[in-house]
Amino acid sequence: MAASTQQAGRAVIITGASSGFGRAIATQLAEVGFDLFLVGRSQEGLKVTADAAVKLGHKTTVKCRALNVARAGELSAYVEEVAGSHRYLFALINNAGVMHPEPILGGGRMDRWRAMMDINYFAPLEGCVAAVAAMRAHGRPAHLINISSIAAGIESMGPYSASKKALEIMSETLRTELQRDRIRITVLVPGVFATNLGRDLSPEMGARLIEGARSKGFDLTAGINEQVMGDPQHIARAVRYILEQPASINIERMVVRPPADLSF
Ligand SMILES: NC(=O)c1ccc[n+]([C@@H]2O[C@H](COP(=O)([O-])OP(=O)(O)OC[C@H]3O[C@@H](n4cnc5c(N)ncnc54)[C@H](OP(=O)(O)O)[C@@H]3O)[C@@H](O)[C@H]2O)c1
Repeated sequence: MAASTQQAGRAVIITGASSGFGRAIATQLAEVGFDLFLVGRSQEGLKVTADAAVKLGHKTTVKCRALNVARAGELSAYVEEVAGSHRYLFALINNAGVMHPEPILGGGRMDRWRAMMDINYFAPLEGCVAAVAAMRAHGRPAHLINISSIAAGIESMGPYSASKKALEIMSETLRTELQRDRIRITVLVPGVFATNLGRDLSPEMGARLIEGARSKGFDLTAGINEQVMGDPQHIARAVRYILEQPASINIERMVVRPPADLSF
């Protein structure tokens, strides 16, 4: 699709933009002219995303900031900085996340679970609070998108599921608190997609995934099968669709997954 300037002048902050969904979202949003503010820890990863976005965009501003959303105050300070330098902070997309889907009694590391909670729950909470303050100050239509997971409804993914369930409940609470504002909030719920997220999957969980797929007739050892593992661009398209809706409509929740269910 040719680049357009339809959304020119609107700034979007995307966390976790150095790979996976975040990178795909950045390229989709660049195509319709949003100004992009990309957050992640990997400087190199952010640069790859920014280069792709600049190529696809039409005079789109693309800026990167390497920061750790798990450190209290870093994301909110960046949100304030963007809001101070750009006239219109239109959206914050809380996408950065990690997955440690161990069972609770399986000897998993408590420090990793705390860090996961910081990244998957407290950082989006902190980002939303800072963004709402900035969005209320400009008073124009604005949007928060929190990336959850189908894992929020699956107990077998343990503390990861809990972090996403907490994110969803926080989002619902915020929606009730924002009813008199022009700020919409969407929970986007992906199924299983081919990104780097599974890199910390334990061998047992990996084996369960492969076995679960096999029991449904899919051979994951032969590479990515799109019937069970989606392309991140589909999530990016969903984000773009959500942001392109008129201000009088709020897509509260959207579940996007490949045709076959590969949940644990
Ligand atoms: N892929 C799936 O099947 C799936 C399904 C459901 C939900 N999700 C959710 O989708 C979101 C994106 O994940 P993904 O699948 O695209 O995985 P990914 O490729 O591993 O991307 C995760 C992103 O989060 C960033 N990140 C992680 N910790 C961070 C930190 N402390 N500070 C700043 N950035 C941090 C990573 O950047 P750096 O490495 O540069 O820090 C990376 O850009 C996550 O919230 C995940 O839970 C994914």
